[in-house]
Amino acid sequence: MSRQALLADLIRETAEVVKQEGEQGLETLYMPAGLEGSLPMPERNRRSRPDTRADTLDALYEKYHRCTACTLGFRRKHFVFGSGNENADVMFVGEAPGANEDEQGQPFVGAAGKLLTRILNAIDFTRDEVYITNILKCRPPNNRDPQPDEIDACDAILKEQIRLVQPRLICALGRVAAQALLKENSSIRTLRGRFHDYHGVKLLVTYHPSGLLHNPAYKRPTWEDVQMLRKEYDRIVQSDTKAPGSTSP
Ligand code: URA
Repeated sequence: MSRQALLADLIRETAEVVKQEGEQGLETLYMPAGLEGSLPMPERNRRSRPDTRADTLDALYEKYHRCTACTLGFRRKHFVFGSGNENADVMFVGEAPGANEDEQGQPFVGAAGKLLTRILNAIDFTRDEVYITNILKCRPPNNRDPQPDEIDACDAILKEQIRLVQPRLICALGRVAAQALLKENSSIRTLRGRFHDYHGVKLLVTYHPSGLLHNPAYKRPTWEDVQMLRKEYDRIVQSDTKAPGSTSP
């Protein structure tokens, strides 16, 4: 296709999407894949209702699901917000959606996700009783590492999720999640195996399930980490039920 024909196509496609979005009252700025970066993007920070503070996860989703604060917002199929229990005591935080997650709009549904489900079951949790999300809500192209500006742009959403869910424990899955949450550059090997403090919430670091798929040597330390997580969960829940006023006769 000639450059001219290609451009004509892109313009037609863009005009059509802008028209449709206008009819639906949407505020997104559409950018065809391949054109981003080649045009100035003055509207990068547009979000619907930027000033309202969401007081439920549904409201938070509504507030951000059309986010284009970074370029990943222009090429996603789905904004992958999170899944599980709104009042979970344990929150798992991965890196970013992959192809399956982008297709389905749910976190951890591909191969790594199936392994995460098995790990959860092995420590007597179901996916429904915990909360699962990622540092980034939109898929990076070819599953490349999230970039610092993308992590910064997405940070507010995760902070709000943590504020609303109020987990007692957070488990960071993999290097990217651990480093983004703890603002540290250390390796998983040095960060794992102990609890850190994340704004008053206990945070444990372990390997990412996809790391386990590729490197069986991570299995044993991961197993130790998640057992530690379960023990701490049991301890916290037990001390909750022992609290004054809540003892049964
Ligand atoms: N890997 C992640 O970090 N998150 C997902 O949701 C899927 C794979």
